[in-house]
Amino acid sequence: MDAKEISLSEKQVKPVVDLLNDYLANYHIHYQKLRGCHWNIKGQNFFTLHLKFEELYTNAQLTIDEIAERVLTLGKPPHSRFEDYIKESGIKEINTIGLQDLAMVDAILEDMAHLIQLERELLDATSAAGDDGTNDMVNRFMQFKEKTTWMLRSFAGKK
Ligand SMILES: [Fe+2]
Repeated sequence: MDAKEISLSEKQVKPVVDLLNDYLANYHIHYQKLRGCHWNIKGQNFFTLHLKFEELYTNAQLTIDEIAERVLTLGKPPHSRFEDYIKESGIKEINTIGLQDLAMVDAILEDMAHLIQLERELLDATSAAGDDGTNDMVNRFMQFKEKTTWMLRSFAGKK
């Protein structure tokens, strides 16, 4: 499989593939953070946030698979080792044990802001490469996190 099989130039698509691999690395760290929040949440918001974090990590898991398989569709192997994810991700791991519920929400909001920023870069790169397929996929993922940002901010009583 090669980008030219789907009428895309390999040279034009190269920056998109590199960004998608970075995006994948960031998403994996974000995913594991959501699992940590799901497991370690304590206090009065347990039932609400335990469930919400599960919903978000399930969504992230599906997103991760779509990103990786898009890289393959574009003719390259996606990164699949945690060693690479940890090295390449701008999003960093945190210890969720003992973290207050609203501090968890803040950590997830911070990750989402970082992912949205990467998505905007990807939207520019995919437009430049004429890669409408990746553009559409990333746009969908971004809209989900834009809306989730509003909901998490409302939950935390932020403006
Ligand atoms: Fe669970």
